[in-house]
Amino acid sequence: MPVDSFFTIPQHIAIIMDGNGRWAQKRHMPRTVGHAKGAMGVKALVEQCATLGVKYLTLFAFSTENWRRPEDEVSTLMGLFVQYLEKEMGALATAGVRFKVIGDVAGFPPELQTRIHAAEKFTEHNQAITLVVAANYGGQWDIVQAVKGWQMANPELNVNQLTQAQLAQHLSTAGMPDVDLLIRTGGEQRISNFLLWQAAYAELYFTEVLWPEFDLIELKKALISYARRMRRFGLIAEQVDK
Ligand code: IPE
Ligand code: IPE
Ligand code: MG
Repeated sequence: MPVDSFFTIPQHIAIIMDGNGRWAQKRHMPRTVGHAKGAMGVKALVEQCATLGVKYLTLFAFSTENWRRPEDEVSTLMGLFVQYLEKEMGALATAGVRFKVIGDVAGFPPELQTRIHAAEKFTEHNQAITLVVAANYGGQWDIVQAVKGWQMANPELNVNQLTQAQLAQHLSTAGMPDVDLLIRTGGEQRISNFLLWQAAYAELYFTEVLWPEFDLIELKKALISYARRMRRFGLIAEQVDK
């Protein structure tokens, strides 16, 4: 199924990578095996998005609520993150990928924090695509920290002077375009506290496919669905220049 160049390609794709645990459980394996398998497909996906001209790919890796999972699952996820930075960062950097983490990084083990900062610094001038990993991220957290950040930056101003544009500049995604296409794998049709503000006008794409099975064919299906949509942003169809 080709995705031709005349297709409208989203500038910013965000993905809720869900279904790792069920993928493993269906195979009578521990949930953590599903997370490992889920992480394996990320590199090819990033490279494919870069080739297609997607400029930002934001992946939901760990939510502020995921800390409440069993301890061994949480520590496996942390370990995978460290491993990922160690193993894949070199190749991604060579491919021109800029790496960025959004979320409350201060909540992570120190070793992981150091690796995150190093990877961000190492790739800061890359331009092919920005891979944003949302880790210890919550949309509600992001909005609250943005308000606090705005007040810190503007101590002389009153909250009544806060505008939407100013708030956006203090979100963890400051400087990035809003989400065009939000994909959720794993069959659930919910946002789960992901990019609440940034997905205000995102096209939503839900698939039953579990994350470890979401391959490039599945990505193309999502892109074809996106290209067929008419985004109206509150206007009527006749006003929209398609
Ligand atoms: C998504 O897969 C990955 C994370 C939340 C870290 P899940 O672990 O939620 O998999 P399911 O939904 O239980 O199958
Ligand atoms: C959302 O998946 C978070 C990530 C993919 C990291 P969850 O599995 O945590 O979401 P819920 O609990 O089903 O809403
Ligand atoms: Mg889940």
